[in-house]
Order: sequence, then C-alpha cells, then structure tokens
Amino acid sequence: MAGRREGLLTREKGQSLQVSRIIIAVMIGVLLGCVFALLSPRGFFSSNRYIHSRPIGISDLQIESSACESSERLNALKSDILSVTEKNSELKKQIKSLTEKLRLSEQGKGHAQQQFVMLGEKHKAGPFGTVKGLRTNPTVIPDESVNPRLAKILEKVAISKELIVALANSNVKAMLEVWFSNIKRAGIPNYLVVALDDNIEEFCKSNDVPFYRRDPNEGIDTIAKTGGNHAVSALKFRILREFLQLGYSVLLSDVDIVYLQNPFDYLYRDSDVESMSDGHSNATAYGYNDVFDEPAMGWARYAHTMRIWVYNSGFFYIRPTLPSIELLDRVADRLSHDSKSWDQAVFNEELFFPSRPGKDGLHAAKRTMDIYLFMNSKVLFKTVRKDARLKKLKPVIVHVNYHPDKFARMKAVVDFYVNGKQDALEHFPDGSE
Ligand SMILES: *[C@@H]1O[C@H](CO)[C@@H](O)[C@H](O)[C@H]1NC(C)=O
Repeated sequence: MAGRREGLLTREKGQSLQVSRIIIAVMIGVLLGCVFALLSPRGFFSSNRYIHSRPIGISDLQIESSACESSERLNALKSDILSVTEKNSELKKQIKSLTEKLRLSEQGKGHAQQQFVMLGEKHKAGPFGTVKGLRTNPTVIPDESVNPRLAKILEKVAISKELIVALANSNVKAMLEVWFSNIKRAGIPNYLVVALDDNIEEFCKSNDVPFYRRDPNEGIDTIAKTGGNHAVSALKFRILREFLQLGYSVLLSDVDIVYLQNPFDYLYRDSDVESMSDGHSNATAYGYNDVFDEPAMGWARYAHTMRIWVYNSGFFYIRPTLPSIELLDRVADRLSHDSKSWDQAVFNEELFFPSRPGKDGLHAAKRTMDIYLFMNSKVLFKTVRKDARLKKLKPVIVHVNYHPDKFARMKAVVDFYVNGKQDALEHFPDGSE
C-alpha cells in the first residue's frame, strides 16, 4: 500500500513539473516569435514560402497580431501573404504545364516531343521558323458514370487507353470473321466489337472476340430503335462519344478492312482526328490548289480553290478531347435531323468548313494518314498492284471501300500480302463492272 502511494506522489510531482516546463516552453516560443517578427518581418516568411502547402489564411494573421499587437506589422504581413499566394499559384501553373508536357512526351513515341504546349498562356513569338501553334489538345477528364459497364470492359481490353472499335450486325457477319482473323494474326490484342444484335454477340463469344453488347432498351439506343434510318446512322457517333467520355482514344474501324500490321505502331497522336483518306494520290489525299477557269472573266479568269479528297469516316483515330467530342455531337445532331445526309459527307463538312456568317466552324486538329500505309482499295487496285516498287511495301491496313465485291477482294489482299500469292490481285478490274 505505502509503496503504491509513494509512487502516486512522485508521479503527481513529475506531472506538475512537466506542466511548468510546457508553460516555459510556450513563453519562449511566443517571445522568439516576436523577436523574429521584429528583426525580419519579410525575410521570415519569404524564406519559408516553398514550405507552405496551404495558402496563409486570416486565422494565422490574427494569432500573429494578438501576440505582437502592431498594425503596421499587420499590413506588412498582409502584403507578404499576398505575394506568397501569388507565387503559389504561379508555381501551381508551372507544375501543371510541366505535367502536361511530360504526359504528352510519354504518349507521343517521338512525335509529341516536338509539340509546343500553350494551354492558354500568353507567349512572346520566338525567332523566324521556330514558332508552332497548339495542335495537341488536352484530353478530357474520364467520367466513368457515363457507362460503368463499358468502362469495366475497356479497362480489360484497351492498351495505353487505346483500342480498335467496330460496330457490327448480322449483315456483315462473314466480313467480320475476315476482319478479326486478320487482327488476331497481326497480334493486335486491343480491339472490341460493338455487337448490335444477338447473332453477333454469340458469334463473338464462340470465336473468343472481345465484344460489347449494346442493351437495345438502354438510353440512346431506343432513339435508334424507334427512329428511322437516319437516326440509326447517327448511333455510331453517339456510341463513340461514350468511349471518349470514358477517356479512351478510339481507332474506329469498318469491318471491310484487312489488318496486316498493328496500326498503333504507326499513329502520330498529335491531332484530334487522324484519318485515312479516300484520296488516290499525294495531291488528292494531302490537298492541292485546284484552279477553276472562267474565260468570261478575262484578266481574272483563273480562280484558285483548295481541294482535298474526303477523310474516310470508316477508319479514323480520334482522341478524347473537347473538339473531338464536339465533332461527334455535331455529326450525330445533323444526321438525326436530315434524313438525306450521308454520314461521311457530314463528318468532313463539320471537320473542314471554317467559321462563317451564322455558323462557328469546329476548331479541331486533323492529320491525314499515309495513303500507302493506310491504303484504300482504289490506291491498291489502280496504282500499287501495277507498280513494282509500291508492290513491295507492306501496308498497315487495306480498306476495301471502293469496291462492292468486298469479300472476294479482302481474301485476295490476304492471299497477296500474307500468303505470298503474287498473282492474287491480278484478275480483278480496277473498278467495279
Ligand atoms: C508522295 O509522297 C511521298 C512522301 O512524301 C513521296 O515519297 C512520294 O515520292 C510521293 N509520290 C509522288 C508520286 O509524288
């Protein structure tokens, strides 16, 4: 008993000793604070500005003022804090732009490093020949709530947030088989079929093809079901929007396309839309100056026009940016209101026509794919198969978009490029007969 009491007493003594020590320490602290503030009212804060992770608030001010009670000092501190806060936001801006630059250079595989990122900041123009405008727009913040089921599928299928996407219903079943067989042979794992009916869903399952079945009673698809033909053609652009909102870049693909190499090894990724062309030569694919002649105008008979063959809306790479999503919305909106419009024409008009009276043009960056790597069937059958040098090049894809006998020509392309049958392309006419 006695021993326990003694123990208690010494503990009480020790506690009171501790309390008085704490009081002394606090007093020393307050004194030191005043001394520091007196000696160097500016230096104290400015030397610590990189340590503050939160902006200094009013409560900090009040503590300082009650300890030292000087309104002059208070004003000096206020201006210090203002400049620290300014410097804080300046730093945050710099970090933000550095992070963006890092992300782009990681993504770009040698291309995006050359880009200049401006992000709305003002710049002085550099010397002659060194200036480049913004072309690689920042991607949107992914929003999973748009379609959680699709988000789960994409997490599994996509690689580096990219994938090939094709829409298919039973009408194109035979071509779909050629399509995914060649994708598999080329060793491309990140592709997905949007199955529009039960038949295609089953077909994908039994062939081990990644698919996403639209729920026909879900949201936008009911528009397509109850709407006419034009509403259905708008569906592609509406479905695509969800992929972009989820933060994925999509290589949209028709099914009349033969894959010979992995297209993701050949993309630039510097534009909102990177598309294959319907052009059949450098000029028609990449643009040229077409002179319109009107002799009646005499001295001014020649009018110069800008021409480019349309982008193929059956094979394009689209990055998840605001201009990309705006493009999809514009196209879907026009298709659902105008039954006579053709989706590829609308796609190109929205992409290329400038702002004009009464209408704002789209501000999207675009890039035309190499016509010999991303080859349409006109280039192949009109030019390449007759040219000894071009025949030796191996395309990344061949799109049989110019010919109605798609299935036979797709097989011939496989025979020529994969099975080495040198005469496989020869018996076809240049065009359809
Ligand atoms: C087309 O452009 C490519 C790439 O710039 C070039 O190598 C090729 O010679 C051009 N072809 C013709 C026919 O001008």
